[in-house]
Amino acid sequence: MSSYVITDARKVTTKRMLDMKRTGEKIAMLTSYDFTMAGLVDRAGMDVILVGDSASNVMQGHATTVPITLDEMIVYGRTVARACKRAFVLVDMPFGTYQGDPIDAQRNAVRIMQETGADGVKLEGGRPILDNVKMILRAGIPVCAHLGLTPQSINQFGSYVTRATDDAEARTLLEDARALADAGCFMLVLEKIPSTLAAEVTRAIDIPTIGIGAGPDTDGQVLVAHDMLGLNMGFKPKFLRLYDHMGEQMTESVGHYISDVKTGAFPTLDESY
Ligand code: KIV
Repeated sequence: MSSYVITDARKVTTKRMLDMKRTGEKIAMLTSYDFTMAGLVDRAGMDVILVGDSASNVMQGHATTVPITLDEMIVYGRTVARACKRAFVLVDMPFGTYQGDPIDAQRNAVRIMQETGADGVKLEGGRPILDNVKMILRAGIPVCAHLGLTPQSINQFGSYVTRATDDAEARTLLEDARALADAGCFMLVLEKIPSTLAAEVTRAIDIPTIGIGAGPDTDGQVLVAHDMLGLNMGFKPKFLRLYDHMGEQMTESVGHYISDVKTGAFPTLDESY
């Protein structure tokens, strides 16, 4: 199996990612929520580490991203930022922390930046929250937007099916993308939309697009680490490529340990004081 060789060890910045779009170098993004995993992901050469609110699912066992709180995201963000030397660290603003009053949105984004040491924030939505996005940008905070399937709105959507498959929703998404880019967002995540639409959005705006279930023509890709490593066993949507089967390996290793303890094979005298 080949592994990626880091050719530029400098910290990844918003400017560098804009240059990557211009030169056609794809941007790799992966989630992490804790110090140990973030350190490993950073060392592998990841461009962006997303402290996603998917922590609500994979770290906390909730069915949706709705229950996770700002204080909880700040703890995850802080532990990840502490581990990263090269990657740009992006923290999700959780449900309900940026859609209301623009001043509250800015205050919550400032808390994330000050209390985690992250490099930017991500939030879901388009023109309906544009004033709030602008207020966060006004504080000098890099904002990555997220369109298409926006999991925080699951209770409104009612399902996780592909979004913007009809012309009207596709047009709305394209106009939202243009408005977010014009407002000054530095990046846009496109989740679970037709690849032709993702390609059109990517051509239409100057900022990088990052796809998840959005085909090969975005400027980069993002996956949830627990999903692609096979830790989230049983979750296998079409867009997910499994790079490992760590869930099975872990269960096997832990079973081996249990058996060694039960039989007295662990510890040996060499492992004792
Ligand atoms: O929370 C998350 O992990 C995300 C990615 C799936 C894009 O938003």
